Amino acid sequence: MTKPRIFVTRLIPEKGMTMVRQEGDVEVWKDPLPPPYETLVQKVKGIDALLCLLTDKIDGNLIAAIGPQVKVISQMAVGYDNIDIAAASARGIPVGNTPGVLTDTTADFAWALLMSAARRVVEGDKFARAGKWKTWGPIDFLGPDVTGATLGIVGFGRIGQGLAKRAQGFDMRILYFDKKRNPEAERKYRAQYADLKTLLGEADFVSLHTTLSRETYHLMDDARFKMMKPGGVLINTARGPVVDPEALHRALSSGTIAYAAIDVTEPEPIRPDDPLLTLDNIVIAPHIASASFQTRTRMAEMAAANLIAGLKGEHLPNCVNPQVYLSASL
Ligand code: DGY
Repeated sequence: MTKPRIFVTRLIPEKGMTMVRQEGDVEVWKDPLPPPYETLVQKVKGIDALLCLLTDKIDGNLIAAIGPQVKVISQMAVGYDNIDIAAASARGIPVGNTPGVLTDTTADFAWALLMSAARRVVEGDKFARAGKWKTWGPIDFLGPDVTGATLGIVGFGRIGQGLAKRAQGFDMRILYFDKKRNPEAERKYRAQYADLKTLLGEADFVSLHTTLSRETYHLMDDARFKMMKPGGVLINTARGPVVDPEALHRALSSGTIAYAAIDVTEPEPIRPDDPLLTLDNIVIAPHIASASFQTRTRMAEMAAANLIAGLKGEHLPNCVNPQVYLSASL
């Protein structure tokens, strides 16, 4: 019997790689940079399973190029806005993702960004390294207190709630906005539901945790930045395009808001000549919120488990389009 052909779009942590290698003939794109789109289209032709990352554009054209034999597309990430789910579903292809395992690690990182923005950690580090530290200054590097401040969480899913949990230890007042109210989480985290305008107007720190969709694309635009408090701080660990980068630049450079700390940008990677890089009042991390040894290993194992289930014709343990199973059994 011929072994299934599997394509993996980058080297992933070894435990996941080992699981995948046991299942068939595996080709791995070993470059540190993702395969260019046209190369990927060629590479996936005729494969039985694809293990991909958020850096790969898996659109309808690419899905069609794979061919009807493909059994599964498994993404090593919780987010999957890079994949045309409708196109995969139309062809009956289950798509897997890796929810849950990265909740704490990502919430930890959002918290790290919040703290480093408030207390100007990165600016202080640059200052010290540049030899500018001449004395202790009574009015130098002042920032807002975190303890007792109001935190506004936009998107109250697992990671948003994870941030609320951390904020409890800092006696913060917690506001949240989501499509739906969540009374249980409200009780658990002493969080109060607010419409977006109220949240932006009252929060000292606004942290974004929404998925990227048509509704959330450029959610933070000029008008929404103007709704924020003048000393407000924006945190984004969700997806870059949830924030209009030009509006963010205007908000930061005009003092409409005081600070931002972001793990995601539009585009990714940020261009070297992006004007945001010229500002001191922003911390920019290279999309590393889930980057702990343990979490990335668990994500790789989950992605491998989804891929293996798909190859065996079993339901994926974590499937983003389970409707493919309903149509298959009709
Ligand atoms: C995800 O999984 O969607 C994160 O953005 C990367 O871990």
